[in-house]
Amino acid sequence: MSCSVKAQDSKLSELNRFMDALKGASRSESNLIAILHKVQELYGYLDRDAMDEVAATMNIPTAHIWGVATFYHYFKLKKPGKHVIAICLGTACYIKGAGEILEKLKEELKTDIGGMTSDGLFSLEEARCLGACGLAPVMMIDGKIYGSLTPKKVSEILQGYRKRSSGE
Ligand code: FES
Repeated sequence: MSCSVKAQDSKLSELNRFMDALKGASRSESNLIAILHKVQELYGYLDRDAMDEVAATMNIPTAHIWGVATFYHYFKLKKPGKHVIAICLGTACYIKGAGEILEKLKEELKTDIGGMTSDGLFSLEEARCLGACGLAPVMMIDGKIYGSLTPKKVSEILQGYRKRSSGE
């Protein structure tokens, strides 16, 4: 069995344990939302197979689950890139040049907000204040904050990720 298949199995087992714990409780919408959060925590987005598993285990129509998922902007319906970049477009960052940083990111990544690079290495998202306004303009990659950005610094940071990725 390959490592990725094993990882998928362990995610599915953890999801099933989580759903088992909720089974006795009433099938309220908040339970479903908690399950969707769990799927996203495990997979990074709402994986189609995992969603089918939720529908079968909880005995809820798949269409209803997707309906709930698409109502909340928080849930990601597409698989993200290996590294998730969130560019802050909050007021402090915008005043300090986030627009220029965003243009640089789009040019480097050849994608737009909500998109992913063709090699799947990066996906690009926007954020509204990452809580680091003193470092504006700011972006976050996989939870790590990069501040006082300039277009040149953005290139260097992305280059660092690309180099590490090709050396893996
Ligand atoms: S506005 Fe960008 S970190 Fe606060």
